[in-house]
Amino acid sequence: MLDFLEGLRRSAGPGDMPVEHIYRQFFAPLHERAREPAARQPNKSLLEDFDAEASNQADAPPPGDQDVWIFGYGSLVWKADFPYIDRRRGYIGGFKRRFYQHSIDHRGTPERPGRVVTLLPGDSAQDRVYGVAYRIASNQKSEVLSHLDYREKNGYERCSLRFHEYPRPSSPSTGDGIQVIMYVATQANDSYAGDVWQVGCIARQIFTSAGPSGPNREYLFNLAAAMEQLFPGAVDEHLDELVTHVRRFVEEEEPQLLRRALLKEIGAVLGAETSQEQQAHRLEELRKRCLEPGGREWLLYGQLQDEGEA
Ligand code: BEZ
Repeated sequence: MLDFLEGLRRSAGPGDMPVEHIYRQFFAPLHERAREPAARQPNKSLLEDFDAEASNQADAPPPGDQDVWIFGYGSLVWKADFPYIDRRRGYIGGFKRRFYQHSIDHRGTPERPGRVVTLLPGDSAQDRVYGVAYRIASNQKSEVLSHLDYREKNGYERCSLRFHEYPRPSSPSTGDGIQVIMYVATQANDSYAGDVWQVGCIARQIFTSAGPSGPNREYLFNLAAAMEQLFPGAVDEHLDELVTHVRRFVEEEEPQLLRRALLKEIGAVLGAETSQEQQAHRLEELRKRCLEPGGREWLLYGQLQDEGEA
């Protein structure tokens, strides 16, 4: 970086824009790489895995009367991080899935919360939430429930409901449904965002958030992809609307927002009255910050704030 800065300064003619040169040489490639198709999520068929692997254990304990089922309607749909001995696709009735819960520990941070799903009461005849029920062996249930209680400590509570298989019961014994445990965010919890938000605002929050579990947009896109593969034809307007908004932001706005954000950051470094060595060091630090998980979202959020949004 220092060599490049010195070279730039030596060869700079009137009207030369060092900020632009530095951006093109050191920063633009970071985001161009992230946009290449190979860098995106592999488009593996969830359905293939789903049908081939009912359990995720090599030596699954046999099913028993004391087993429990856990219903996932968020990230658990595409990724269960606990041992299960069976899983089924299906739905619960009388609820609506909404991105009304702030996430400060998974897809966001306390300073910049992301958004994750919770359930709202809906019409018992019309509203359904599709997801996956996992069967937990009786000798593993306390370990799994403790793990999930901890994982979902930010405002979720356990409740129990009837789950129905989709497209139809896999055996006569489950024809009346399966009793499942699920986690729902209470409307009184501190992270409950409520239903006063326009979808566009929630989409902006998802677009600009990331947390220890990764970018918030990945949570949204993975959930939508899983729904499409596991429940073709099932409608979730709230989810679809969010996907449309966030995709549009990513495709139409993100490249220019990142460019403006970086030109501003680089300009601030070069404009400071410090030595060339210090400027080079600060530019390296900036590059590292951009490469860290959440670096892209940090730039997007800052830029939108500067432009009077977010
Ligand atoms: C899930 O399905 O991933 C989930 C949703 C809300 C709370 C806990 C888990």
